[in-house]
Amino acid sequence: MKKLNLIVLASGGGTNLQAIIDNIEAGKLNAQIKAVISNNSKAGALERARNHNIPAIHLSHKQFVTPEEFDEKLLSILRENETDLVILAGYMKILSPTVIRQYKNRILNIHPALLPSFGGASMYGIHVHEAVINSGVKVTGVTVHLVDEVYDHGAIIVQKCVPVLNDDTPETLQQRVLPHEHELYSKAIQLLAEGKVEIKENKAYIRE
Ligand code: GRF
Repeated sequence: MKKLNLIVLASGGGTNLQAIIDNIEAGKLNAQIKAVISNNSKAGALERARNHNIPAIHLSHKQFVTPEEFDEKLLSILRENETDLVILAGYMKILSPTVIRQYKNRILNIHPALLPSFGGASMYGIHVHEAVINSGVKVTGVTVHLVDEVYDHGAIIVQKCVPVLNDDTPETLQQRVLPHEHELYSKAIQLLAEGKVEIKENKAYIRE
């Protein structure tokens, strides 16, 4: 079966990227990461890419006069690498409708909560876990979803529940959720690699 060509976009430390790299290298994920792109030249994700001989590309809007020129460069990198899936792994920038439309149902994101709960523009990183704890819910979790033009809104591919404990802080909760992100992201990508995901009317149907 053909390996899926992945391009990973990340802005931070890259532990989700690392989990995907590890699963590929362990033969558990039928894919290859063609490049890692970050808006942050100092992102740990770029360092992780370099450590695994994966092209590490710093690509920022600040390098271009207009957003359209940024899009053009990003799309050319995606095309050159014959990208099957764009993987957002803690990418803090919004993709333009142009990019999203050209890669419809081929852009994945991971969110550290059970969407649609605790989603939306201000819900990222530790802020998600703060909101979860402040709400008093007893269960949170992880969501891997397709990216469409509405933030944190695309078809949900997989989710997993994680308990919220009485004495949790945002940090302890984040640390409990993160390993499940690492497991779930590769599972979602593998389901897509095996053609087991059918999208109908913005809902995903998994044919295990
Ligand atoms: C993860 O918690 C992910 O859910 C969110 O951003 C964080 C990225 O962490 N989108 P890392 O850079 O993969 O460690």
